[in-house]
Amino acid sequence: MELMIGRDLHHSNSVYMDAKGSHAVLVCGKRGSGKSYTLGVIIEELIAMGGSDVIPIIVDPMGIYHTMVMRNDRQSSDLYQWGLTPQSFRVRMLVPGIPTELYDPEIIKALERRGVEVVQLKLNASDLTPDGWCDLFSMNINQPLGITLFRAVQNLGESKHPFTVTEILKYVEKDKRANEISQAALQNRLDAADRWGLFSKVDYVPMDKIFVPGVVNIIDLSQLEGGAFGRRNLIVSIVARNLFRTRSNARFREEFGLGGLLPKVWMALDEAHQFIPDGKNSLAKPQLIRWAKEGRQPGLSMIVATQQPSAIDSEVLSQCDIILSHKLTSREDVQALNSLSQDYMGGELRTLIAELQRTGQAILVDDERESVNLLQIRPRQSQHGGGVVASMDDDTYDIWK
Ligand SMILES: Nc1ncnc2c1ncn2[C@@H]1O[C@H](COP(=O)(O)OP(=O)(O)OP(=O)(O)O)[C@@H](O)[C@H]1O
Ligand SMILES: [Mg+2]
Repeated sequence: MELMIGRDLHHSNSVYMDAKGSHAVLVCGKRGSGKSYTLGVIIEELIAMGGSDVIPIIVDPMGIYHTMVMRNDRQSSDLYQWGLTPQSFRVRMLVPGIPTELYDPEIIKALERRGVEVVQLKLNASDLTPDGWCDLFSMNINQPLGITLFRAVQNLGESKHPFTVTEILKYVEKDKRANEISQAALQNRLDAADRWGLFSKVDYVPMDKIFVPGVVNIIDLSQLEGGAFGRRNLIVSIVARNLFRTRSNARFREEFGLGGLLPKVWMALDEAHQFIPDGKNSLAKPQLIRWAKEGRQPGLSMIVATQQPSAIDSEVLSQCDIILSHKLTSREDVQALNSLSQDYMGGELRTLIAELQRTGQAILVDDERESVNLLQIRPRQSQHGGGVVASMDDDTYDIWK
């Protein structure tokens, strides 16, 4: 599968991004250079080319991707030059928590009028590790509260059955080794977590109930607090872990010619430094490092987009086999990217970055093919959200006209 993402700046032939196998892709560039727009292009292509064989997911900390439900009529003449037409995509906006509590109900109605499916995202308490639960509440696993919580989650997990927050609570209440103060304190915290409306109270929610192939699945994190141990990270951690497990099982089934439980997944994380920060831990980081390192086998691809490659965990950065870089100016970030230079590039990445002039221009580096292209990213078929609409230089497409 090849994704047509733009045209070469020198030869004006189409440039394709490989999506046959699984990849870890880095999309970077300074503020306003076109990263989010480019993520949208990749998702449009994944849907056009992958259809029901791919689940595209966007982790959206800014709440900007729901506009993909609308056609990009504003650029219809640009699209025509590329042999494309404006198009609206089916958008599933997964809201972690109770949508009408997180959002003004009128906004939800307005989104639905546009055709966005607003769905409450329900996750499983059992998909957060014992460490993860302690991290979530900033509890030290060597102190009474942390010890009690860790024990509860670990023991419930060993019973192999998915469990709920209420069951963790019950376990803590019955735990004879825990003192009363710890039990009461934990009860308060677990009650609060239950009220987020994020964890399923009754049943285990399988991933194929949450994500739909061939549509834009948006995990909308815009209404939740950030931070390394905040709810945004919590959600990414749980989803990434569960998808990893589900896809690992599905791959085995596929090997035996049995229908897969869940098609291959492409997960794009905008503002990815929030989830895989360099030099410090976060709730989602261990799971995302695992995706980058071992995701190939189970068919899990990841796209991380950031303004600051230098702020991204270096282990993940070094696993990225496709780089799509827009203009970068900060010396630190140019250096971080340049450190990924390879012999086949025929020069250092920093000299290629210096050639990029305008919004929407990028370099595409593919380690497997050992290829480098300087390209103009194609116009979007669906509307791009967020940002200032008219910030692009007017002459960007002149070279094609
Ligand atoms: N390939 C492109 N073709 C046409 N317009 C583009 C293209 N890329 C970006 N733009 C325009 O440039 C502006 C900035 O793009 P975008 O929001 O993608 O930037 P960004 O790199 O994600 O910025 P930030 O770091 O602030 O998130 C938008 O208004 C968008 O419409
Ligand atoms: Mg952006």
